[in-house]
Amino acid sequence: MCILRGPRCYPEPMPEPLSAAVAASGRRAVDVRSAHARDAAAWWRLQRGIYDEGSWFVGDGPPSEGALSARIRTLDTTRAAVLLALVDEEIAGWCEATRLAAMRLEHVAVLTVAVAAHLRRRGCGEALLDEAEVWACGLGVRKLSLSVRGANAAAQALYRRCGFEVEGIEREQVRDVGGFEDNLIMAKFLADRA
Ligand SMILES: CC(C)(COP(=O)(O)OP(=O)(O)OC[C@H]1O[C@@H](n2cnc3c(N)ncnc32)[C@H](O)[C@@H]1OP(=O)(O)O)[C@@H](O)C(=O)NCCC(=O)NCCS
Repeated sequence: MCILRGPRCYPEPMPEPLSAAVAASGRRAVDVRSAHARDAAAWWRLQRGIYDEGSWFVGDGPPSEGALSARIRTLDTTRAAVLLALVDEEIAGWCEATRLAAMRLEHVAVLTVAVAAHLRRRGCGEALLDEAEVWACGLGVRKLSLSVRGANAAAQALYRRCGFEVEGIEREQVRDVGGFEDNLIMAKFLADRA
C-alpha cells in the first residue's frame, strides 16, 4: 500500500532525517534524507567508487562535483528527488528519482540507486527505494521505472524484492570488455499497491 508516513510531506521542503528504517536484526539503522548542496563532494566520491567498479552503470563516469552540487541546489522536488542513505552518518548510498518531463509521461519516474560496496546488504538499497516510493506517491506518480544490466543479479534481486517486475529486455544493449550484455527494463506500478 502506498502510505504517506510520519511528518513527510513532499514536495514541501523535506525534514531530516526522513526516516530511520532499522533493518532486520543485526543491521545498523539506515537513515534516509534528501541531499543538501554540502553533500555534493561525498556524493561525487560515492558515484566515483561505483563507476570504478565498472560493472553496474553504463555511463562513462560520474558528473563533476560541480554538476552534482548544481543538481541538488536547483532541484525541483515536484519533478525529482535525490535521496541519500546514511549509516552511522556516513553517506552510504543514493537514489535519484526523476519524473519524465512530457505531460503524457510525467506519471512515470525513472530511478537510479547505488550503495557503496562496503555498506551493501545492510538495507540501504531497500530503504532508498522505499523513500523514493513515498516521494512518488505524494506526487501522484503511477509508475517507477529503471534499467538494470542483465548480469547485475544483486540489483535485480533488490528490485524484485521491492515489487518491480521485468517489462522488457533490450538484447545486447550494453557493450563491455567481456562482450555484449542485455539491459532489463523493470517497473513497479504504484497504483497496484493501493
Ligand atoms: C543493488 C544494490 C543497490 C543493493 O543495495 P543494498 O543496500 O546492498 O541492498 P539491501 O541491503 O537493501 O538489500 C535488500 C534485499 O535485496 C536483495 N539483495 C540485495 N543484494 C543482493 C545480493 N548481492 N544478492 C542477492 N540478493 C540481494 C536481498 O533480498 C536483500 O535482502 P537481504 O539482505 O535481507 O537478503 C547494491 O548492490 C549496489 O549498489 N550495487 C552496485 C550499483 C548498482 O548495481 N546499482 C543498481 C544499478 S541498476
